[in-house]
Amino acid sequence: MLKTTDPTQTNAWQELKEHFKEAQTLNLREEFAKDTKRVEKFSLKFKDIYLDYSKNLITEKTMKLLLDLAKEINLNDAIKKMFSGDFINQTENRAVLHTALRNFGTETILVNKENIMPKIKTVLNKMKAFSEKIITKQWKGFTNEPINTIVNIGIGGSDLGPVMVLESLKPYWQKGMKAFFVSNIDGTQIVETLKQCNPQTTLFIIASKTFTTQETMTNANTAKKWFLKTAKEKKHIKQHFVAVSTNKEKVEEFGIDTENMFEFWNWVGGRYSVWSAIGLSIATIIGFNNFENFLKGAYEMDLHFKKTSFEKNIPVILALLGIWYNNFFKAQTYAILPYNQYMHRFPAYFQQGDMESNGKSTSRAGKQVNWQTGPIVWGEPGTNGQHAFYQLIHQGTKLIPCDFLAPAISNNPTGDHHEKLLSNFFAQTEALMLGKLEVEAISDMAKEGKTPQEVEKLLPFRVFEGNRPTNSILFKKLTPKTLGSLIAMYEHKIFVQGIIWNIFSFDQWGVELGKQLAKKILPELKSNETVNSHDSSTNKLINIYKEMSKE
Ligand code: F6P
Repeated sequence: MLKTTDPTQTNAWQELKEHFKEAQTLNLREEFAKDTKRVEKFSLKFKDIYLDYSKNLITEKTMKLLLDLAKEINLNDAIKKMFSGDFINQTENRAVLHTALRNFGTETILVNKENIMPKIKTVLNKMKAFSEKIITKQWKGFTNEPINTIVNIGIGGSDLGPVMVLESLKPYWQKGMKAFFVSNIDGTQIVETLKQCNPQTTLFIIASKTFTTQETMTNANTAKKWFLKTAKEKKHIKQHFVAVSTNKEKVEEFGIDTENMFEFWNWVGGRYSVWSAIGLSIATIIGFNNFENFLKGAYEMDLHFKKTSFEKNIPVILALLGIWYNNFFKAQTYAILPYNQYMHRFPAYFQQGDMESNGKSTSRAGKQVNWQTGPIVWGEPGTNGQHAFYQLIHQGTKLIPCDFLAPAISNNPTGDHHEKLLSNFFAQTEALMLGKLEVEAISDMAKEGKTPQEVEKLLPFRVFEGNRPTNSILFKKLTPKTLGSLIAMYEHKIFVQGIIWNIFSFDQWGVELGKQLAKKILPELKSNETVNSHDSSTNKLINIYKEMSKE
């Protein structure tokens, strides 16, 4: 069981509140001028990952107090409990053990007194054998042709992880293999995907923890119908449909041979399941060795998180900085900005990872919280974002802390693209921090040949306040291992924040209501009757839809 502590009642929180009164006027330009070693104090290196957090609105005192908060809240105890299989997902009465899926250590991990490591290894071996059969073309379709197309059908955690990872690791794809992802219940996605597939050479991975999710099951059934149109006989399903799930019965009911089912367990949360058999599409597209390296990268970050003192612990530091902005500066959102095109789904992945985990307002004591919890997470790859929404980050009225991420080595060295990309990364973080002083703006305009009258008129618009906080996360190269480490880094950051906010980060009751209501509305849309069982707005929407949808 996790302890329950109102964070706002801790000594550290009270001290942070006091400290904030002076810290809120902190000027980063001045702080850097005052202390030429600032970056040495506020940066960390772990393997191939370098974190510079010196461009944050912090002093040494801020960090000390934040670290005190982590200690006072007993973060150490929570970390131990998560890794050792304590049932810390208390509202679902489950352990939280995605870390066991990537555990390369020799320790036993018990759930209900059973060591779960052997069954994890068994599934990994099954994934290895399966992915190798696909890659070496030994797995044949119903016309004896090898499989060259994988369609992963899943949603949320059963989709975003594999999509994000496979997009990020495109340079590692096996030659000749194609992968598609279908998640949306909008028929457009499956129809457009199937247009690009050949039933003889396509394998569908139906990925669903519960195997009851409406979107996934609807798409899976459509895929089955499409396949049977050509294959005719149900016996061929075996070679073209495999399942990743915790629900054996439902898999059988769908018609998939349980021989071709890759199991995972209820102690793996959906949004933390990319490390489990949910990663099957990853293993079949980039090969099992690469998948294993991806797991190893996460394992290395797990060890760092578990064993490093808080002041040198990257996920802890990132989490505390987030708390500082969220709860003291009252920042509502935070942006993840990868300067890497392959990582274009990385922000979306952590939108689920963070917002589904920490978008809660009931404390672990079952009471309404009276402090802010999870922020709104968003982002797009640089430099595209620069030409879209950065204006607001630079000069808007909102404080938006940002994480900038980039590899030092490009997977596609092309002319000077990479230097230009990285020069933008460094320039943006510098500009956000420094802003532009009046004298600088005046001098710029003078150089542009503006008249004194024009300068006076334009000056208020050309001055940037600066002082906008950023983290810079630079890593050597986007490899499976580094990607694994980066994902685990953010996962642990989210965990730490949930512990401090005194909420349960591993359930998601909030998404249930909409699902239930949709089930009630579906038959109403199919019937010819006028609907009047809802509020007036919903009734009218449904009835107008029914009218409009008549051809
Ligand atoms: O709707 C939220 C959710 O439960 C996510 O947490 C999960 O990742 C997703 O739906 C998919 O669930 P399943 O894997 O059971 O189909």
